[in-house]
Amino acid sequence: MTLVGKTQASEIAVHWREEEYVHPPAHFVAQAHLADPAVADRFREENFPECFREYADLLTWDQYWHTTLDTSHPPFWKWFVGGRLNACYNCVDRHLARDKNKAAFIFVPEAETEPIHTLTYQELYVRVNETAAVLRDFCGLKAGDRVTIHMPMILELPIAMLACARLGIVHSVVFGGFSGEAAGLRAADSGSRVMIYADAYHRNGKLIDHKASADIAVRTSAAEGQPIEKVLVWRRRDGEDLSNTPMVPGRDFYMEELLKSYRRARVAPVSLEAEHPLFLMYTSGTTGKPKGCQHRTGGYLAYVAGTARYYQDIHPEDVYWCMADIGWITGHSYIVYGPLALGATNVLYEGVPNYPDAGRPWRIAEQLDVNIFHTSPTAIRMLRKSGPDEPQKYRYRFKHMTTVGEPIEPETWRWYHDVVGKREAVIVDTWWQTETGGFLITTRPALDAMKAGSAGPPALGIFPVIYDEDGKEIPGGTGRAGNICIRNPWPGIMQTVWKDDDRFVRQYYSKYCKDPKSRDWRDWPYFAADGAVLAPDGYYRILGRVDDVINVAGHRLGTKEIESACLTVPQVAEAAVVPVVDEIKGRMPAIYVSLKPGVTDAKGAAEHVVAAVETMIGKIARPKSVHIVPDLPKTRSGKIMRRILAAISNRMDTGDVTTLANPEIVEQIRRQVQGEGPVELQEGPEDVRRFGEQE
Ligand code: WT7
Repeated sequence: MTLVGKTQASEIAVHWREEEYVHPPAHFVAQAHLADPAVADRFREENFPECFREYADLLTWDQYWHTTLDTSHPPFWKWFVGGRLNACYNCVDRHLARDKNKAAFIFVPEAETEPIHTLTYQELYVRVNETAAVLRDFCGLKAGDRVTIHMPMILELPIAMLACARLGIVHSVVFGGFSGEAAGLRAADSGSRVMIYADAYHRNGKLIDHKASADIAVRTSAAEGQPIEKVLVWRRRDGEDLSNTPMVPGRDFYMEELLKSYRRARVAPVSLEAEHPLFLMYTSGTTGKPKGCQHRTGGYLAYVAGTARYYQDIHPEDVYWCMADIGWITGHSYIVYGPLALGATNVLYEGVPNYPDAGRPWRIAEQLDVNIFHTSPTAIRMLRKSGPDEPQKYRYRFKHMTTVGEPIEPETWRWYHDVVGKREAVIVDTWWQTETGGFLITTRPALDAMKAGSAGPPALGIFPVIYDEDGKEIPGGTGRAGNICIRNPWPGIMQTVWKDDDRFVRQYYSKYCKDPKSRDWRDWPYFAADGAVLAPDGYYRILGRVDDVINVAGHRLGTKEIESACLTVPQVAEAAVVPVVDEIKGRMPAIYVSLKPGVTDAKGAAEHVVAAVETMIGKIARPKSVHIVPDLPKTRSGKIMRRILAAISNRMDTGDVTTLANPEIVEQIRRQVQGEGPVELQEGPEDVRRFGEQE
C-alpha cells in the first residue's frame, strides 16, 4: 500500500465480502411496532420536517408546539418551537395512572450474593421527588443551573438525573470510570457548583472507593476557577461506610442524612420550553479539551422515544436490558430517557459483563426474562472469547438485540446472532454518536434484512450523503469510501457545544456548508467525522473515525487528551498517541514518547506515563504499549507524523518517508517496536490507515 495524500483520503477503495442477508423471524415481525412499510412514506424527504410530529406525539406536552423546525439561525436549529414540557414528568409521572406498580428498574448488583432490587414507577416517583427537593431546597438549585454527576451504575444515578430534569437543572454525567481529575475538569467547564457522587461501588469483584475521586474532582475544579460548594454522596449501602475517604464538613453531605428532612416531599415538575437544555455530555474531539455536547429537552426526548419504540421495539410487556453505562450517551438515550419515556421495564446492572464468569449476562437474562438485549461489539467479543458456549446453557429468549459503538466484524456478528440470539432474535447494528442523540443508521428490525458488518439504511427521517474531500457526492455502489454526512437536521441533534458556539459550527458544519448565509437547511450538512461506504442496496458500512479520535471498546478518547496527560510527566519531552488494533477492544492507544536529555531510566518513565494517563483520564485510556524512542518522526516544519507511528504499531507500510526531517528514525523505531528481520505487512483498517492525515 502506498501513502495516500489528503485529497484522496476519503476515496480509498474498500474491499470486503458482501455478507448474505438474514431475514427477521416471522414471530418478531408479527409483533413489531414498525411493521407497516407505509411508515417509510410518511418519513419521505418531502414530508420533512413534519414527519417528526409522529415522534413528538409520543410525549405529553404541557403546551403543544406551533413550529416543527425553525431554521432561522443555522446551524442552531430549533425543534417543536412554542412547546413546553418536562422530561421527568414524561419519564415518570405520566406512567403512574396505569403503571404505578410496574417495575421501572430492576437493579442487579455485581455480587451474585446481593439481592436483586426492583423499583416500581411509584417508587421511582417518590425517590425522584425527594431528591429534587434536596437539590432545590437544600442546594438552592434552579432551572438552567448545572450539576455534575460522577457516579457508578446504581439506581441513584438515574434518580439524580431525573431529579435534575424535573427542575430543569442541566445535568452533566461523567462516566464513573473516569478519574477525579477528568470529572473536575468537566465540572469546571460546565460551571457546576454541586457534584453528586457515590461513596463506593463494586467492579470486577472489587469494592472501589469512589468518594476519593470526589476530593480530587473538587480540587481540580477549584484550580480551574470553579469552586464546588457541595458534594452530595449517596451511600452504596445504607448506613454503612464503605469509603475510607473522610467527609469534609460543610461541603460533603450524605444523601441519606439530607433526605430525612424531605421524606415524601413533592416537587412539581417545572414546565420548560422545548429548547431548554436537558443535559451536557462531554466527549472527545480533535483538540485536547473535551466538548460539552448540549442536548435539548423536547427534540431529544421525542427522538429517543421514537427510536426506542421503532428500532428497539420496546413494548410494555418486554423486559429490556441495555448493558451499557449510563455515563455514556448510549445509557442516557437508551437506558434512561428513551425506555422510561415509553414506560419500559429496564434492567440496570452494576458490574462488568463477565463477572464472576462469562455466563453472567445469560444468567441475568434467564432469571429476569430479559427479551431485548443491547450491548457493544467489545462486550460481545469479550464474552465470546471467555465463554463461547455459555449462552446455550441458559434458557432465555431474546426477540431483539442491539449492537452499538464500533463496527462489528461479520464473524462476531454471527456468534451474536447464532449463539447469543439462538437464531431467534433480530439484530440492529445502530450507528450514531454522542452528538446525534439517537440512532441515525440502522435496519428497521421487522422490515429490513440484516447484513452482518453493515449498519444498514438510514433511520426514518434521516438523509445521509457521502462526500469526498472536495464536497463531491460519492454515489452508492462505487466501492469508494468518503465522509458520511447527514443532509438534514433531526430532533435528536445536539444544540451546540456548551459555551462554544464557534466550535459547534467549525467542527460539524463548516466543512461542507454550501452557503454560510443560507437559512435553508439543505445548505448545512452535518459532518460526522466517520468514514463510510454505501453499497448498491442502500446499506451503509461505517469504517471508523477520520479525526484524531480513538474508539476504544466503543468509547471515544481524544489522542490529544492522552498526549497532554503524557506531557505532565517531567521526564517526557514529546509524546504521540496512535490507535493500535486490538482483538477485543477494537482499538487501543499506543504511546510513543521521547525523553528529555539526561533522563536514562526508560522503564521508570514508561511507568510514570501509564500512571499519568490513568490519573488524568481514567483506566479506560490505559495504553496497550508505551514506546520510549530516541525521537519522533517529524516533517521539516516540525510536525509529528502520527500516521507513520500508527503504521508501525499496526505492521502496515509506512509509505514514503524521505521527505521527513529525520527519515532514519522511522526504521529505528520500526526495529524497536517490531523486532529485527523482515516483517509481514498487513492491510490495516481504514481509520488506522488514514490516521493523523490532517497533519
Ligand atoms: C463513534 C461515536 C453512539 C453511542 C456510542 C458511541 C463509532 C458508533 C457505530 C456502529 C460503527 C460506530 C463511530 C462514531 N460508532 N456506532 N454501529 N458501527 N461505528 O458514541 O462515543 O460518541 O462515539 O462511535 O466512529 O463516530 P460516541
